[in-house]
Amino acid sequence: MSEAIVDSPNADQNIQIRRVAAACGAEISDVDLSQPLDNETFDAIETALVEHEVIVFRDQDISTEDQKAFGRRFGDLTVHPFAPSSEEAPELIVFDNDADNPPWGTDVWHSDETFREAPPLGTMLRALIVPEYGGDTLFASMSAAYDGLSDRMQQFISGLEAVHDFKPFRNLFDSDPASREKLRAFEDRYPPAVHPVVRTHPVSGRKVIFVNPQFTLGIKGMDDAESRALLGLLFHQAEIPEYQYRHQWAPHTMVLWDNRSVQHYAIHDYYPNRRKLERITIKGDKPYSDVPTVALEVVRSRKGARAISHDAHGGHAPKQE
Ligand code: SIN
Repeated sequence: MSEAIVDSPNADQNIQIRRVAAACGAEISDVDLSQPLDNETFDAIETALVEHEVIVFRDQDISTEDQKAFGRRFGDLTVHPFAPSSEEAPELIVFDNDADNPPWGTDVWHSDETFREAPPLGTMLRALIVPEYGGDTLFASMSAAYDGLSDRMQQFISGLEAVHDFKPFRNLFDSDPASREKLRAFEDRYPPAVHPVVRTHPVSGRKVIFVNPQFTLGIKGMDDAESRALLGLLFHQAEIPEYQYRHQWAPHTMVLWDNRSVQHYAIHDYYPNRRKLERITIKGDKPYSDVPTVALEVVRSRKGARAISHDAHGGHAPKQE
């Protein structure tokens, strides 16, 4: 342990962890995130993240650099391919919304960036300015949601795979040739990603429903009507209040969520008031399932409808010339 860490206010303290909802969410106190953390404290926080899936730090008057340094303890930080960011801090997303810049795209249930081969391990969001009321963020434990399904349904969905796409961001591209060219470059870089419908959490081993309405296009090997019906049921699981934690922001509150096991939904009810937060994401691994994928020879359903394959595109796919 280095001198700096021994001198840190965190060195001789035990963090306090208080569960704040039944399925996910815990507040961690007696820690100062402006100071380096010794390994023991960091390990306790990392363990709490996996166990509680969403961890909340109140009254952390810290800088962007402190936030990034804390994030880097968990892994490399990633750069969002579509969100605006600055050259000096490409990993940082600033959500600064008000009457002139309405919030966009986060009021839908999602895990972050599941259109990637390896979606983020976690996301860290820190509040700077909060509205007088509204602007809460909802979280849903998708491991609790999986546990809540019947044995029959658990068996049915385990071994299935789903196709994910950056579909909401397709709207950012105009239809002029240069914009379409740019979109095509993004499609080459981020082709549709195939992930297990039920992912195994790499640390806890818990099973997690890993499809979301923001990025999931369909279930591989099913025809469209079957896929929509099944996804509708699975998307609905996030909406069940028993699996949720509703987070109320205050300035200097920072939340870290395990993107491998929860979905979130930002409530846009504060518009046109101002809300400003800073976000970073931590690099994750490719999702896997410890249930083998069901091998499918047949890519057409009996009725002849085309089944969803991994090269399906969502949104406004560019027309082929
Ligand atoms: C997000 O989806 O990352 C934003 C959540 C929020 O603004 O509360």
